[in-house]
Amino acid sequence: MIATPAAALRPRSPSAVDPGRVLAQSMCAECHAVQAGQYVSPNPYAPSFERIANTPGMSAPALWSSLYSSHRRMPNIILRPDETRAIVTYILTLQDADD
Ligand code: HEC
Repeated sequence: MIATPAAALRPRSPSAVDPGRVLAQSMCAECHAVQAGQYVSPNPYAPSFERIANTPGMSAPALWSSLYSSHRRMPNIILRPDETRAIVTYILTLQDADD
């Protein structure tokens, strides 16, 4: 039987299936805390996605450009534009989620 990533996440409701969250889980969670309410990342140098989302002035264009620029400690991960859009959208859903 083939389990889809969405099914593996056991969403609370069908509308909770977010392709950006699935991508973040599979591509970024090795280093970043990617879920709402998580502040401690596996990699101590990597900010949690909730913290990134709640950085003052954070916006889709700002996130987009930070994903396309290189970082000191973060490997350059090659994302397709549709993957970038999904992840940016997901990270912004964490804004002001303080529980
Ligand atoms: C191998 C570990 C690693 C992986 C995998 C990783 N990151 Fe990072 N990321 C880091 C570290 C460490 C930092 C903080 C230091 C830096 O900017 O290099 C960071 C910083 C960031 C920042 C903030 C950049 C800024 O300009 O302040 C964003 C946004 C980000 N990561 C998004 C992602 C996304 C989205 C993914 C998955 C597609 C991802 N990261 C995967 C380690 C990682």
